[in-house]
This record gives sequence, structure tokens and C-alpha cells, in this order.
Amino acid sequence: MLRQAFLACIVILAARGVDARAEAPPMPMLEALFVPEQDLTVTILQREANWLQGLEGDIDPAHPNYLHKDLVTADDESWRGAGWQSINHLMSDGTPKIHVEETPYLMRVGAVRKTADPKISYVRVFESCAPFYSYVAIGPHESRLFKAWQPIDDFSCYTFYIHFDAERRLDPEAIYRNWGHRTAPPDYKTVYNNANMHLQSRSPTRQNVSGINGAAIQDLAMQESMGPIYDRRQEHLGFSDRAVIFYRRLMLRLIKDNEEGKPLPAQDPALDFQQRGASFTMPADRPWQEVLKWQQEYERSHPVAVPA
Ligand SMILES: [Fe+2]
Repeated sequence: MLRQAFLACIVILAARGVDARAEAPPMPMLEALFVPEQDLTVTILQREANWLQGLEGDIDPAHPNYLHKDLVTADDESWRGAGWQSINHLMSDGTPKIHVEETPYLMRVGAVRKTADPKISYVRVFESCAPFYSYVAIGPHESRLFKAWQPIDDFSCYTFYIHFDAERRLDPEAIYRNWGHRTAPPDYKTVYNNANMHLQSRSPTRQNVSGINGAAIQDLAMQESMGPIYDRRQEHLGFSDRAVIFYRRLMLRLIKDNEEGKPLPAQDPALDFQQRGASFTMPADRPWQEVLKWQQEYERSHPVAVPA
């Protein structure tokens, strides 16, 4: 299935009028490709939205505080089954400072949140790899989520949700419960769609802000309900859209660069594709890009007990 996503890259090249078979880049050595099958949970979700419209949700680090907020159950409790207790840290500050930088792969987004201690920040870093791969920020010892956005046409796409964990066996049922993205072939469509308003309910028994069950379906509802390609000419973007603005400008520049013969990102054979989304607390006066180092130091000093 990952190969299927990779083929979409070739489709994009073909659409731009180049001989894709002659110029197709080598298969990127993405970490998820080397994870044993029993340690993976892969879900494909077809959505009625342009792939870029969907991917922009990945690079907006502020939206989880609102769209994915639980009202009754503590967020760390509701996400525990999927192994994402760090979600609770994220919910402590709904106005993160957003930083963005270009990388040899594409771009990196940092969201810096306040904590009760002014000397400590909670930092989440998202890594993006061209043409359409996302490394979602995860906390220490948490399961990883790698996503791929495969265009079907201008108005629809497949999103691949690839969950894996190097340290413990995944609980697929808990993951499906948190994300709501269980689908089946041949079309990989979900029962939640525009026609039924993604089964949104304002019943008091629905325990989250959106009234929609499952984080993937909450995202889906935002991305489909605006129409498959939203007319952006009248947009008024703000500070929380900083990464989206950066991304759009970067894409336009890269297209121009490529037309002038410059290489696209993530094509350098020297790249090792050892990317990782990260989230951890760290000294507020240190650069946000250090968060992975701080997280990995914590993981080394607090190893996970492996069940006998
Ligand atoms: Fe989301």
C-alpha cells in the first residue's frame, strides 16, 4: 500500500508533463517500510477533498485544541488506548507559538506551548516529507503515526494512516476507536460523509466539542464540508495559519525552482529518511528544534518495561 502512495508521486510528475518512468525518483527509505507487518496498523480512508486541502490539516498545530477536544473524559484518558497520553499536554494551551522551517525533505513545523512553569515549554514538532508524507508529533514511548496523502484526482484522495510501535504491540481496536477511520476495500469509504453531516450529534451524550466521533472523522468533516476544493481567494489567514502560509509559498517556489532545473526536496540520495515527529517538555530558552533530543534523552533514561 505504501508503494501505491509512492506511485502517486509518479502521477504528479506525469501530470506536469515529464516522462515519469524515466525520471521517477528512487523509492524513499521511509521507516514504516521496514516495520514488521505484525507491528503495523494500516488504514486507508477515501475523502472527497483535494489532497492538499486535507494535508493542510496536518500542518495546523493549533486545531487539536478545539476540533479534537473531549469535554467529559480527560483527554489523556480517552487517548490512552491508542497510546497517546501526550494529547493532554497539548490541550493545556490553545494558542501555541508556531515556527516553520524548510528542510531537505520539505518542511518542519514547531508548536511551542506554555506550561505552568514559565521556564518550561511543551514543544511539538511535525515533519513533512515531499511529496505528501506526514510524521505526526508523538510523545516519549508513544506509538507513531505516519500518513501519506495519495491524490485520486483533483477532488478526492486516499489518506493512509500507518500506525506502528517499535516497543509494544499495538491495540488496533483502540486505535480505530480513537480515530474512527476503519474502512474496507474496494473503495475505502467511511459511513461518515457530507450527506449525513458526518453523523454529527449535539446530544449531551456526545462528549466532545465537534459532536463527531473519531479524530480522523473530525478532520474529514472539516476538509469535506468546505467542498472538495475551497475557493481560497477570499481567505483571511491569521497567526495560527502560519505553517499553512509557509507551505503554500514553499510549494509555489519549489515548482518554479523545478521548472528552472533545480531538484525537488527529498530527492538527495544522501538523505537517510530517519525523520520523526516529537513532543516533549524542554527549557523555554532552548531552540524548539531540540525537542527530539530532549525526548530521546528521556526515553533512554526511562526505558519501557518489556512484558515477560
Ligand atoms: Fe486533526
